[in-house]
Amino acid sequence: MNWGARICPGDEFAKLETLVAIHHLVTRFKWRLCGKDDSFIRDQLMPSPFEGLPILLEPKNVEYNDQ
Ligand code: HEM
Repeated sequence: MNWGARICPGDEFAKLETLVAIHHLVTRFKWRLCGKDDSFIRDQLMPSPFEGLPILLEPKNVEYNDQ
C-alpha cells in the first residue's frame, strides 16, 4: 500500500494473504444467503442489498492434501 509518506513493504504479501483466504473460503465452505429481506436500495449509482448480504458458511467436509 502506498497511501502514506512511506511505502508499505507488506503490500504484495497482504494481497497474497487475501487471495489465499478467499481461496479457502470459496473451496472449503458452502455459502448460503441468510438475510430475510432481499430488497435493494440505490446507493449512489450502484444498487446494494438493503440489509447487507449476511451469509452462513458451512464446511464442505472435503479432504485436502495440504502437505
Ligand atoms: C491490507 C493490508 C495493509 C495495508 C492497508 C497497509 C498499509 C500501509 C500504509 C498506508 C503504510 C504507510 C504508512 C506511512 O506512510 O506512514 C504502511 C507501512 C508499513 N507496512 Fe503496511 N499495510 C498492509 C499490510 C502490511 C503487512 C502484511 C505488513 C508486514 C507483513 C506490513 C508492514 C508495513 C511496514 C513495516 C510499514 C512501515 C514502512 C516504513 O516505515 O518504511 N503492512 N502500510
